[in-house]
Amino acid sequence: MQNNVQSEKLYTKRATFYERFFVDSLGWGKELERFFRGSDYLKPRLKVLDAGCGTGVVTRTLYRLTEEQGYAGIEFHAFDASPQMLDIFQQWIDKHGAINITVRQADVLARHDLPPEWGKYDLIVCSTMLEYLPKADVKDALIHLRQLLCEQGILLVFITKQNPITRWLGRAWWKANLYEEKEIAGLLHRSGFDRVEFKELASGWSNSIMVVEATVDIDYG
Ligand SMILES: C[S@@+](CC[C@H](N)C(=O)[O-])C[C@H]1O[C@@H](n2cnc3c(N)ncnc32)[C@H](O)[C@@H]1O
Repeated sequence: MQNNVQSEKLYTKRATFYERFFVDSLGWGKELERFFRGSDYLKPRLKVLDAGCGTGVVTRTLYRLTEEQGYAGIEFHAFDASPQMLDIFQQWIDKHGAINITVRQADVLARHDLPPEWGKYDLIVCSTMLEYLPKADVKDALIHLRQLLCEQGILLVFITKQNPITRWLGRAWWKANLYEEKEIAGLLHRSGFDRVEFKELASGWSNSIMVVEATVDIDYG
């Protein structure tokens, strides 16, 4: 079973390797770009949070797409527990002069790690981070993320599935917990999300990673 200190140490040691192997060579960056190009999550003037951003591949992808579309007024916030992962992201931000991206070291389970103005997000993306929390803490993390959404906000979770490859790569090597659809859907419902919808990654990825969109019904009362 994973705990936060172990996962922080793991990513502290493997930050550069993660970026080169997983994001570049295995093509996680390209798959995220393909996924977001085929979606309609982006619009002008959004407030977006990348929770467990690592080296920033989700925000970097979304930033590039919004620049391409000419969407103005988008604010990106991103946090991660590992300073080494954040260093790689910060170098990219500096190199690209991306002044609308702010990063911060924070633990998703420590509510006071984030400044009070970090909230009311239209979109929160949590990509392959929840599997590094002890399973007993995932509900708390999801409740925290739900509380950071604006009224009609969307939480998008990418999370590792159970299969023989992920059992070897994810569990043995990256020390990740693995999930089934029913389990993550149940956790999202118990964390206060009303609607949970599974989205598809490309065939090479969909055996290993699930994508779940979660929203809360608007209370007109
Ligand atoms: C597999 S990486 C994913 C990074 C990035 N989201 C992506 O899609 O490439 C998992 C990340 O979760 C971060 N992480 C693990 N536990 C965390 C916690 N409790 N709070 C915040 N970040 C955490 C790790 O530091 C690591 O950067």
